[in-house]
Amino acid sequence: MNPNWRAPLRALPRASAMAFAIVFLVFCASSGGSAQSPQVAATPPMGWNSWNHFARKIDDATVRAQADAMVSSGMRDAGYVYINIDDTWEGDRDAQGNIQSNSKFPDMKALADYVHSKGLKLGIYSSPGAKTCAGFEGSLNHEEQDAQTYANWGIDYLKYDLCSFRDVMKTAATPEAAQQMMVDAYAKMRDAIKKTGRPMVYSFCEYGDGAVWQWGPAAGANLWRTTGDINDHYARMETIGFSQAGLAKYAGPGHWNDPDMLEVGNGGMTTDEYKMHMSLWALLAAPLLSGNDLSTMTPETIALLTNRDVIAVDQDPAGKQGDRVWAEGPMEIWSKPMADGSQAVGMFNRQQGSMTFAVDFAKLGFTGTVKVRDLWAGKDLGTMTGAYSATLAGHTVILLRVWPQ
Ligand code: GLA
Repeated sequence: MNPNWRAPLRALPRASAMAFAIVFLVFCASSGGSAQSPQVAATPPMGWNSWNHFARKIDDATVRAQADAMVSSGMRDAGYVYINIDDTWEGDRDAQGNIQSNSKFPDMKALADYVHSKGLKLGIYSSPGAKTCAGFEGSLNHEEQDAQTYANWGIDYLKYDLCSFRDVMKTAATPEAAQQMMVDAYAKMRDAIKKTGRPMVYSFCEYGDGAVWQWGPAAGANLWRTTGDINDHYARMETIGFSQAGLAKYAGPGHWNDPDMLEVGNGGMTTDEYKMHMSLWALLAAPLLSGNDLSTMTPETIALLTNRDVIAVDQDPAGKQGDRVWAEGPMEIWSKPMADGSQAVGMFNRQQGSMTFAVDFAKLGFTGTVKVRDLWAGKDLGTMTGAYSATLAGHTVILLRVWPQ
């Protein structure tokens, strides 16, 4: 804040100060009050989600332990905020139809208070269908009531998973009518959240059906899954990650493509493959929702998840998603324009054997000399002209940041 800002107000007599305050408030209201309500998900949401590692074995104590570890590991200070409970928290509805948490979560409000006390935010999960994907109670015909319950608990983020709403869509006369039912169902929960007055990140999970990137933002999405589920195998991560080419134009501040949560630290890939996973997700301006057990992380996993240079690529304020700029067989180059005029550039070797290839700076739009940093090595490589050539071992990435000189 401008240090001179308060000075004139202090000098004013009380009545004038009051008049000034009223004029100021009216000004804020007429300008949309944007200073009071910063945009939800201005950069891709960062946090943790229970599903990839814990699946159904998630409870209050485990969630608290994850919040503790997010702080003690340094993840919070690196930018991770959301602690997201996925499916299987749901209990029955009471006589008035209010959703209750099941015995694994005895007091959701107390849990939210605990998570908030750590400087973190709490997310929850539901479905527009009668049942969630794991067969628990969904929000069908209880949207407003559920959104209000979440707000009362202090929830900050909702993942809304299509699941059994597909059964409802089967009653539509045409595929177009079925699609409209889905759009309406997501918009209905958007309105329900809005009505509570509590800001919540709204995450669509309908696996990329019906080109959700085209209609998601208008239906309230801050992020939308673009694919089916990820798992902790290189082949699945690779299929999802490299299939995101072409979606960049749909992402921007407040609305992001979501190629699903991270598997880093779950043990099914090598460290180099997890670097490919993190690099690709950062270049894609993807939400960074870790999906591992934060309470048992190795220093190596912490280093992968908290690399500041890599996170800065993902969280760049311009919010421009990167895209593939070159590919030849298993070699790919992706780049992401950054707010300061630099570019993040990923060189990927998708095959098992090593490959030598080069980034041609002119093809990325740079003229003359550039300054280059290797983000995983944490090393400035100095200034260069022309191209950067490297030999990449199988399943490895080099993630660069390139500045014009
Ligand atoms: C679907 C979603 C997953 C997870 C499970 C929970 O499969 O895509 O991310 O939320 O449901 O049942």
